[in-house]
Amino acid sequence: MVPPDWIRAVFLTVLLAFQGTVFALQLDVNDEQSIKNAAATTAYNMMSYYHGNESGQTPGKLPDTWWEGGAMFMTLIQYWYWTGDTSYNEVTTQGMLWQKGDDNYFPANDSNYLGNDDQVFWGLAAMTAAELNYPEEDGQPSWLSLAQGVFNTQVPRWDTSSCQGGLRWQIWPYQAGYTTKNAISNGGLFQLAARLGRYTNNDTYIDWAEKIWDWSATTPLLNTNEWNIADTTTTEAQCKDHGDIQWTYNYGTFLSGAAYMYNLTDGADKWKKGLDGLLGSAFQKFFPQEFGGNVMSEISCEPNMMCDRNQDCFKGFLASWLTFATTIAPYTAGEIIPKIQQSALAASKQCSGGSSGTGCGRRWHQAQWDGETSLETDMSALSVFSSNMITHVNQGQGYHGPLTSNTGGTSKSDPNAGTAPKSSPNTLSPITTGDRAGASIITIMFVGGWIAAITWLVYGG
Ligand SMILES: *[C@@H]1O[C@H](CO)[C@@H](O)[C@H](O)[C@H]1NC(C)=O
Ligand SMILES: *[C@@H]1O[C@H](CO)[C@@H](O)[C@H](O)[C@H]1NC(C)=O
Ligand SMILES: *[C@@H]1O[C@H](CO)[C@@H](O)[C@H](O)[C@H]1NC(C)=O
Ligand SMILES: *[C@@H]1O[C@H](CO)[C@@H](O)[C@H](O)[C@H]1NC(C)=O
Repeated sequence: MVPPDWIRAVFLTVLLAFQGTVFALQLDVNDEQSIKNAAATTAYNMMSYYHGNESGQTPGKLPDTWWEGGAMFMTLIQYWYWTGDTSYNEVTTQGMLWQKGDDNYFPANDSNYLGNDDQVFWGLAAMTAAELNYPEEDGQPSWLSLAQGVFNTQVPRWDTSSCQGGLRWQIWPYQAGYTTKNAISNGGLFQLAARLGRYTNNDTYIDWAEKIWDWSATTPLLNTNEWNIADTTTTEAQCKDHGDIQWTYNYGTFLSGAAYMYNLTDGADKWKKGLDGLLGSAFQKFFPQEFGGNVMSEISCEPNMMCDRNQDCFKGFLASWLTFATTIAPYTAGEIIPKIQQSALAASKQCSGGSSGTGCGRRWHQAQWDGETSLETDMSALSVFSSNMITHVNQGQGYHGPLTSNTGGTSKSDPNAGTAPKSSPNTLSPITTGDRAGASIITIMFVGGWIAAITWLVYGG
């Protein structure tokens, strides 16, 4: 006897619901709707960790981290661009504007403890909004001007008192990390300058991009023989020493900036060489042959499952910057796109965790969920899912890649943004004895944390 239709329907619904939790997120990279669905689910899960838009909370602020807010909004702006889903635009705009400080992403609540790398992520988010014509808010500074504000506050921090140049990691002398010059701070400003240069065609930015790249190449932060990027080097050693831990996002900032420079110089040899060199080493290091050669892995912390929350964000940045590189250096698409597709397929198999049953894990190369899920692992997965829209969109149908002021980018320039006196470290009020005492206590705390972190990195297994 055949059961009535409604019984079959109920049975099927229950079965599908059950399968959903067991078999994780479904993703078919050849099907536009499937990509949008996977990205939408992951965006929803990621945003379930965010409460900044609720009453009594601070817009744009995530618990115990400030920089990740900028990274999250950057990821959401890219999500909006690729999928057209406006669900998170309101929270994104609110958070991006709330945290803008004096139009330079150096807000007073957090500025005593920020590093150059923290600040630049918000600048890169604003730059992304400008390039993608993300909606501007009336009566508020433009996205472009906010990116310019970050550039304008970072450039005066260029430090020639050691190593003949470079940005320090941390901004204030009382912070451990002040005597470090690191890849993400310098690579971040390099990328921002290159993008501002391409967008505005203003030589100031282009010259700075070139200068930061050239300086980096005099240090282990950018080894242009082996195309190796050291994470850190120190002023004590005149930037000859290497902190050689390998991270995806360090390669991402430099290779993306090189792609913008390649584009704005109409294919100059120097930038093609840089882009090709860094692509080669990023592919070889972060897409290990043992996982087939096309699945991204954060090799310095995935093997022992010791990635911290910052590190869990990094793969998403490399994924999105590689993908946008194919729009401004189209010759790279053939190599990059299979890696974005295979990484997304692999990542989707990791998305069967958490209370939603679709929270994403960390190790994209592993077929079963690895037991981790967080805002950060969701953010990285969201980025690689959204990026897969690259093969489904046509340039000219609203999908224009990163724009410039000459190709339809409408964000307004303000070359002096962010230079209000109180945001510059050069114009700090004189340090009082009370401040010094406070600072040394903070230094002791920071140094303690730093030693613990190094100990963990070296001996953590
Ligand atoms: C906060 O944003 C989420 C989207 O992430 C939305 O669903 C929710 O309604 C918003 N809450 C408030 C109080 O506006
Ligand atoms: C600064 O902190 C206060 C108190 O927590 C908060 O109300 C305010 O919104 C914060 N401002 C920013 C820009 O985060
Ligand atoms: C620069 O980017 C545009 C797309 O924005 C692309 O059409 C053009 O081919 C790129 N230039 C080079 C030299 O690849
Ligand atoms: C180019 O940028 C510099 C640095 O921000 C600024 O001083 C200058 O006015 C800008 N030039 C134009 C034409 O916008």
